[in-house]
Amino acid sequence: MVNTSVTLCGLPMDNPIIPASGTFGFGYEFADWYDINLLGTFSFKGTTREPRYGNPTPRIAETASGMLNSVGLQNPGVHAVIAEELPRLKKVFHKPVMANVSGFSEEDYVYTCQLLDKEPQVGWLEVNISCPNVHNGGMSFGTLPESAMAITKAVKAVTTKPVIMKLSPNVTDIASIAKACEEGGADGISLINTLMGMRLDLKKRKPLLANVTGGMSGPAVFPVALRMVWQVYNAVSIPIVGLGGVSSAEDVIEMMLAGATAVQVGAANLVDPYACKTILEDLPRVMEQLKIDSLSEIIGGAH
Ligand code: SIN
Repeated sequence: MVNTSVTLCGLPMDNPIIPASGTFGFGYEFADWYDINLLGTFSFKGTTREPRYGNPTPRIAETASGMLNSVGLQNPGVHAVIAEELPRLKKVFHKPVMANVSGFSEEDYVYTCQLLDKEPQVGWLEVNISCPNVHNGGMSFGTLPESAMAITKAVKAVTTKPVIMKLSPNVTDIASIAKACEEGGADGISLINTLMGMRLDLKKRKPLLANVTGGMSGPAVFPVALRMVWQVYNAVSIPIVGLGGVSSAEDVIEMMLAGATAVQVGAANLVDPYACKTILEDLPRVMEQLKIDSLSEIIGGAH
């Protein structure tokens, strides 16, 4: 019998599988498909201080072995998440959830994180300083060590739960950003968010996405994500949540060998709502094939 349990920033998890924010709604939408309590946890839809309608459509485009999205942080706002989404989730999910938070100013992050930190259902705060699809916020905080550290410090000053900073791959030196977050007091790092890209409609000779650019995800970005997890593992001593193109049990193990303590699955959920369930079912067999008794023992094992 293999052991899939891990501990992420002090919280035990039955397994390291976490559906990524923006690909799993507020969880209960997937509870009709399977028992979502099988998951380690999941990261809920990126939440902001105010409700947001998101970007104009089209917001999605296909790419070879991946996709582009430019959703623009559509969400009902933190007050509706607390009043409506979390109570609905409570009926079907009985584990701590990861609260994903975005903002357009330091005050926004502080406001939203402070409120969600008080919610008993929330286990971790995942602070998204890496959304490539909004102007005046999102990724702009995550591309410089100074601003990444400032947001980290500000959030840590008003919260009690583990703070995981979600980083952008659209930088030249990912290790320096991760180190700045660690120095700012972060309890963990998650990476990578999407890679900025675009596609054109050949007939119209115009960008396919209304926002022109979008964030690329899916299996094509997996080697980029793995490389960054590897680099960040060498740079920090706090836990890493690895994501980017993960779509199989083998990918999960590769991410963990590179340095991830837990692994998020994103675009794969949009292709197949059972993607995480299938990964969870495959994991024990793949672990046995690779002679892995305990997942927690392989973290960073390839270094
Ligand atoms: C979006 O809502 O545009 C995607 C969120 C993100 O990439 O952080």
